[in-house]
Amino acid sequence: MGPDLKQVLITAEQLQARVGELAAQIDADYADRDLLLIGVLKGAVMVMADLARAMHSPVQMDWMAISSYGSGTKSSGVVRILKDLDTDITGLHVLIVEDIVDSGLTLSWLAGNLRSRSPASLAVCAMLRKPGSAQMQVDVAYTGFDIGDEFVVGYGLDYAQRYRNLPFIGTLAPAVYSAVPQPAIHRDARASGVRRGLGEHNPPRGTLTFQALHQAVYRQSFEGWPSRRRSTGG
Ligand code: IMP
Ligand code: MG
Repeated sequence: MGPDLKQVLITAEQLQARVGELAAQIDADYADRDLLLIGVLKGAVMVMADLARAMHSPVQMDWMAISSYGSGTKSSGVVRILKDLDTDITGLHVLIVEDIVDSGLTLSWLAGNLRSRSPASLAVCAMLRKPGSAQMQVDVAYTGFDIGDEFVVGYGLDYAQRYRNLPFIGTLAPAVYSAVPQPAIHRDARASGVRRGLGEHNPPRGTLTFQALHQAVYRQSFEGWPSRRRSTGG
């Protein structure tokens, strides 16, 4: 395996199979109700696209982009809306679609915000859930996988805006983010719109060898993936 990736945690096949199960469950649960899926940008793009296509009901889709402020390694739960919904959700059945619930603070805030808009119902679907979410009173009706308390990338999830397009969930080698503690980068990147500090234009050069990962991992399991060289400078 390439130096960037430590481990493939959940394969693309496992993700797709689980998304199919969730879609069937949601279809059944909302059989007699119109449903609005709300995807949280950017991480939920993959799960939202796959989930919606695996469903058989004609759902509506909308998107929100939010940014969490955090100091150090903790999410503060103070959230700013970067892009609000286009839809008035009053009286609608709403399902929030999230990539991952970590502390649950972001989701708690979002649920509270959406609840104040008087939807007919509000539920949450999260592809991944970390143990920390157990401390929060976040009711996640549909969970893809419960994972350990480690930083993961792929299937929408990023590290310094990279690796979102991996079709599986994996962990990064410690060397990739050993220079700066991961949560600090992560929160900072989100709060600043990714232009400050170790943002997307300033990854720790020499460690984020996407090309190496691409060669080692994609060639093994994703033969059809086009070979290309990553341009430098974002
Ligand atoms: P929370 O407020 O602590 O629940 O933070 C949730 C958000 O943090 C998610 O929507 C992700 O954007 C991000 N996040 C949490 N854990 C990870 C991870 O392991 N990899 C990538 N992003 C993560
Ligand atoms: Mg997210």
